[in-house]
Formats: sequence, C-alpha cells, structure tokens
Amino acid sequence: MPTTKSADRPLQIGLIGFGCVGQGLYDILEKLPELNAHIRRIAVKNPTKARPLPHDRFDFHADDLLQDPELDILVEVIDDPTEAFRLVSTALRQGRRIVTANKAMVARHLTELVALQREFGGTLLYEAAVCGSIPIVRTLDAYFSHEPLESVSGIFNGSSNYVLSRMTEEGSDYTPALAEAQALGFAETDPTLDMAAFDPRSKATILAAHAYGLLLEPEQVLNLGIENVTAQDIRYAAALGQKIKVVASLQKLPDGRVTAFVTPQFVAATAPLYTVEREFNGVVLEATYAGTQFLSGCGAGGHPTGSAVLADLVALRAGLRYSYAKLTTTEKSTYTTDLEVEVYVRRPDEDASNLLTFSTISQDNPAEGYAVGYVSLAQLLRHRDALRRSGTFVARTGKIRLLQAKANTISETAALTV
Ligand SMILES: NC(=O)c1ccc[n+]([C@@H]2O[C@H](COP(=O)([O-])OP(=O)(O)OC[C@H]3O[C@@H](n4cnc5c(N)ncnc54)[C@H](OP(=O)(O)O)[C@@H]3O)[C@@H](O)[C@H]2O)c1
Repeated sequence: MPTTKSADRPLQIGLIGFGCVGQGLYDILEKLPELNAHIRRIAVKNPTKARPLPHDRFDFHADDLLQDPELDILVEVIDDPTEAFRLVSTALRQGRRIVTANKAMVARHLTELVALQREFGGTLLYEAAVCGSIPIVRTLDAYFSHEPLESVSGIFNGSSNYVLSRMTEEGSDYTPALAEAQALGFAETDPTLDMAAFDPRSKATILAAHAYGLLLEPEQVLNLGIENVTAQDIRYAAALGQKIKVVASLQKLPDGRVTAFVTPQFVAATAPLYTVEREFNGVVLEATYAGTQFLSGCGAGGHPTGSAVLADLVALRAGLRYSYAKLTTTEKSTYTTDLEVEVYVRRPDEDASNLLTFSTISQDNPAEGYAVGYVSLAQLLRHRDALRRSGTFVARTGKIRLLQAKANTISETAALTV
C-alpha cells in the first residue's frame, strides 16, 4: 500500500466518478490550494463523453486507481451502488482510506462495511451520503457518541421537499410541482427514489447506526412517499396551521426501544422543520442532556456535497475514523415496529379499497374522503406498496402509542417534536 511519504507532500487523491459531486469536489480543491490536496487521478466510465478537462486527465478503469500505491485516499462518487460497493469493499480489504457519497450502498451494506474496516484496518467515511452539506454523521458519531438520544428526525430529501414547498406556495397539485422540480434539476427524471422516500430511508438507516447503534436493513424501516399527495391535503394541513413535510424519524420510545420511519407528516409552525423549504434539508436532534439541536443546510448539489467529501478527506488525513461507539456499548438498543401511529388517510375515491384498519378514529369525513386515527406501524409496512398503487395518501400527525406486549393495552402517547 502507500509508500513512505514526506510530511509536506500534497495529499494524493484518486477520484472515482466525475459527475455532479466529483466535479464539485474538484472545483473546491482548485480554489483551496492551501489545503495541499491534489486530485492525482480521475476514473470515469464513458471514454467518449465530453469533459471539462483534457482527455488525458482521465482513467477508464477504476480498478487501476485501487492498485496505485501513490494514492493516499480514494473518493468514490459514482452513480452505480453495486459497482460502488465492489470498489469500496475492495479498497477496504486493501486497508485503504476511502470516502463515499453513496447512501443506497452504505445503507444496504453497513454491517459488512463496518466489519471490513475492523478486519483490515482501512477507513470509510461517508458524511456526504446523508443530508449533503449538513455534518450530521460526524455530529452523531463523535459529539454525541456517549450521550443518549431521545430522537433524531429531519427532512433528508431536498427533491420531495421542493415539490411540497411549491405545492404549499402555489396551491398547485403534485404533477406540475414535480415537473417544475425536474426542469430545475431538483428532481431526477425517474423520481421514484426521492418521491417514494427510498432515498431518505437509506439516510435514516445510516443514522440509526451512529445515533442508536442499530444496524438495520433498509426494508425494516417504513417509507411512505408523496406521490399521492394533492392540493386538498396541503389545504387540510394549512387549515390546522401546519405544513406537510416528509420527515424521517428515529425515536426512542418510553420503554427504551427504538423505532424508525420515513413518512409525510404534519409539521406545526412552532417546529424547526416547518421553516425548512425547497431543496434544503434539516435535522433536529433531541439529546437527553444537551437538549434540542437543529441543523439545516443544502442537502445536495456539487459544491455542498463536495464540501462534505472535502471535510472527510481532511479528517482522514488527520487519522479520523468513525467510533461507532453505540455499536460497541454494552447497553444495546432494541429496534421495534410494534406500535401505533396516528395518521391522516385520504383515499382517491370511494371505490378505492380501504387497506388500513383503524384501532381508534378521531375524525371521519367520507364526503372529503379522509379519516384520522391510529393504525399499527406493522400494517403500514405490510401495505406500503398497495397504498401507493391505490392512490391513497397517508401522513402521520406525529403522535404514536406503544402497545404493551402482555396485555396488548395502550401504555403511552407521545408526540414527536420536529
Ligand atoms: N448529486 C448530488 O447532489 C448528490 C448528493 C449527495 C450524494 N450524492 C451521491 O453521490 C454519488 C454521485 O452522484 P452524482 O450526482 O455526482 O452522479 P452523476 O452526476 O451521475 O455522475 C456519476 C459519475 O460516475 C461515473 N461512473 C459511473 N460508473 C462508473 C464506473 N463503473 N467507474 C468509474 N466511473 C463511473 C460516471 O462516469 P461518466 O462521466 O463516464 O458517465 C460519472 O462521472 C451518488 O452515489 C449519489 O447518490 C449525490
């Protein structure tokens, strides 16, 4: 691996991927020569694509960078999660230091990535994978490594937040708001990962490891999206003085277990996330002793995401590794979906099948097609895809209640502060 180097030698970086994030990082490093960090080699995929740098600046086989002992640190910012995992896991097996921005890959393989670092001594950092420029992974991993957290919740996806902001501002429906977001580059041509909340679910899965020491499979976390939201739903929220946001929540329950979900949620005007608009992201931490913290910032884009990659590069140079302190503590958290959440459910028409059984209903408005009441989280997980297909829109009110296993009685009601 890397040979002996003099202390003042520039950091030699191997960059894999030169799209939005790769070019953002490149541009920042060009503007900050005082960092003494040099992108020595760049690997991309397509040899015929037009590039903003001379052709001889590029490699077309990322594996060549993995084999180059002169490279001190690798940065993986490609758009293919399967190939990203192959490259990152190979680098870790070589004991290398590597940075990634690929949330889907990290969320899917976190258990293995942690094990590879322990076995081979390499280091992986991934701040850019969660909420772009917001330094949430390191805040949880380092600063709150030993403090219990009551909750970590936030708006983790700028594309869906942009659509909801525009619907709220304009009183418009979902389709034109999405088309505008796509035209402005805030949403992908295939918007499913963002609008159906798969992307923020990956981020919530990653944060669960650092906040609670939970290594979850993404499928264990409910993700409900906004593809079926209408102007009627936005008006309903506004009449209550609230907004609809897609909120990812990790929450410690009154019995000490931890739950997680990513769903549309009604957010009150007094809550920090109410102010997070358009492509911005926001995270609210409730720490047991520190109290409430709120971070907001740009969740995507070349420079904001490049900035997070840069922070990881500088941290790696200084020898930082994630502590994963809550993975190693003796007081392990237990994950549960055994609870009820209060939801607003609106079916597209009377004929749409009623997929959810309420345990209690507080509002029933057949004329407007909606009801509000408690349903089990297990039902929502089971019927996620069918709800989406049927055109049903579901949003949480923020209230949850815990079922006690023995008596099956309701023990607590908790409102989540977002
Ligand atoms: N864009 C954002 O704002 C943002 C924010 C946070 C995280 N991320 C994450 O960052 C990563 C990169 O996103 P992006 O938006 O920069 O993607 P992008 O603009 O689509 O660029 C992807 C780059 O990866 C290269 N690539 C693909 N497969 C490759 C392979 N096998 N070997 C070498 N290079 C390969 C492509 O090569 P060609 O140029 O030859 O096509 C391209 O340069 C993704 O994991 C994404 O989820 C992005």
